[in-house]
Amino acid sequence: MEVRLTTGKTVSVSEGDDLYHALKGQGVYLVASCGGKGACGKCKVRIVEGRSESVSHGKLGPKEREEGFVLACQTYPKGDILIEIPKESMLAVGDKIAISKSRDLFELFESFNVAVSPVVKHLCLDVPPPTIHDNISDIERLKRALEERGIKGMRFSHGFVSSMAKALREAEWKIILGYTEDSGAVFISNGNNYKDKYGLAVDIGTTTVVVYLVDLADGRLIDVGSTYNSQIRYGDDVITRIIHATEGGGLSELRDAVIGDINDILTPLVERHSIEREDIASVVVAGNTTMSQLFWGLDPAPIREEPYIPTVNFFPKWRAGTAKIAVNSQAPVYTVPCIASYVGGDIVAGVLASKMHRNPEVALFMDIGTNGEIAVGNNEWLMTAACSAGPCFEGSGIRHGMRATEGAIEKVRIDPKTYEPELGVIGDAKPVGICGSGMIDAISEMFLTGVIDQKGKLVRHRKTDRIRGGEDGFEFVFSREGRDVALTEADIENIIRAKAAIYAGVSLLLKEVGFGLDAVERVYIAGGFGNYLDIERAIILGMLPDLPRDKFTFLGNTSITGAYLCLLSESLRREAEEIASKMTYMELSVSRGFMDEYLSALFLPHTDIGLFPTVAGLMAK
Ligand code: FES
Repeated sequence: MEVRLTTGKTVSVSEGDDLYHALKGQGVYLVASCGGKGACGKCKVRIVEGRSESVSHGKLGPKEREEGFVLACQTYPKGDILIEIPKESMLAVGDKIAISKSRDLFELFESFNVAVSPVVKHLCLDVPPPTIHDNISDIERLKRALEERGIKGMRFSHGFVSSMAKALREAEWKIILGYTEDSGAVFISNGNNYKDKYGLAVDIGTTTVVVYLVDLADGRLIDVGSTYNSQIRYGDDVITRIIHATEGGGLSELRDAVIGDINDILTPLVERHSIEREDIASVVVAGNTTMSQLFWGLDPAPIREEPYIPTVNFFPKWRAGTAKIAVNSQAPVYTVPCIASYVGGDIVAGVLASKMHRNPEVALFMDIGTNGEIAVGNNEWLMTAACSAGPCFEGSGIRHGMRATEGAIEKVRIDPKTYEPELGVIGDAKPVGICGSGMIDAISEMFLTGVIDQKGKLVRHRKTDRIRGGEDGFEFVFSREGRDVALTEADIENIIRAKAAIYAGVSLLLKEVGFGLDAVERVYIAGGFGNYLDIERAIILGMLPDLPRDKFTFLGNTSITGAYLCLLSESLRREAEEIASKMTYMELSVSRGFMDEYLSALFLPHTDIGLFPTVAGLMAK
């Protein structure tokens, strides 16, 4: 059977295959937040012609069903069919994502006052060439030259040895040997024609993968590449991916997806700068705990089963060849250590980049990404927790939710008299959905203008046709251009739950160490989402604490910044390990106090308005 797309592409499908898997198998990826379980309603397509059978319609409303929409993961073609995939159902993986290089990374590195000391060290060696009378083997010859320089017991891997003979002769025995202190020889370069060596800092996020290409000689950031993490094909959040990993072949699919992303990002970078892959001699990877286990090909299942234990927190060094990263196969791959199942190397890297572990002032670090992790502390102590906020700010679980791509409403203002919204849409396109910053803007505006009450319920008697009863209950319609884009009461409830989890995490962590909010001298906001977060609006929502605005600092993607710092310095790698060892992890899911804090935060901005004095002032106005 054949599935024709209205774009002209044709995909073959076997009897018993659902549309979502058939399309995925042939490179057409749909948004599938729930991983194809029929629960999220994001994989909808329209059947234009032909017969199909749907076993469930999940969240599809009667109007959409009448228009021919089906859930691809629940639909089986019964003959040749023609389908249309709406823009919001197409998954944008492989797209370039704009990543700002705004912070001067090397300036930041210098502010740590440590020397540039990459994992791979260099040694110039004049190895006496073999003769009829000095006829020991190449490796004995190399070892002898090293011993003369006082270096004994260096390890040589099979991969290194197999290319050694050629490299020694091409260099006419005048070589630069690259090596690491713990895992031995990495490369032989021609001593007469030495080329700079490079390193990769990699951030594996649940949503995005970012790669920095760095000159290891001077720490210069040469270029940046990024893409969506293709694991999104198997689900949006870490839990869906863990479940996929446990299904036949799922673990290797997930691993291959992310390794493919890293290698795909790398190709244009090396071409643009005419760099040989062989000259990339070191890699540092940072990611949350699930991403790190998947990168290592480790079964992540125990992460979601009580008592939530990952297989590894402190990873041994790996070779790039074994990890399948397409650089020098002997290059060491260092993985930033994790702390617990839901606080990973991305947070360790973030704390390192923020320097809060070096300063006496009490600081709060918040990574508001797909999940929401927080850390609090200073140079004497550090505590951390994961808030389980869920991926709603990425669009998951929100009817018209989407990532911050073209067509997403990202800014909302509501006229307090007419309740008419004014929208900012990414790419100045027709709105097709609403992204995380749009949701925060929308709810804070709806709250301040009285469209919703403190519980997030729509105030039905407001004189506006924007509030209406929809297929999923009451909703507020933001756009009627082409396709309606609305937030339903259930959506608002989901967003309030997410913000409540973040706020409750912060307040419980502080209480645990006997501090109030007034003790916090600095708040660092990290994570991709952090780049676009409007502090004022997030405070009105009750997601961020109502502290003086000058205490907040945006750090952007600190996971990649921390990976970059670790790439350049041995002593910063040690600092990252110290952070991971000394940080106390608090498991919020079993804490009774968390539930109390969470329930109190399920209001706008909070049940205790005294905690939000500036919002109280705005409400009074
Ligand atoms: S409903 Fe089909 S992927 Fe979620």
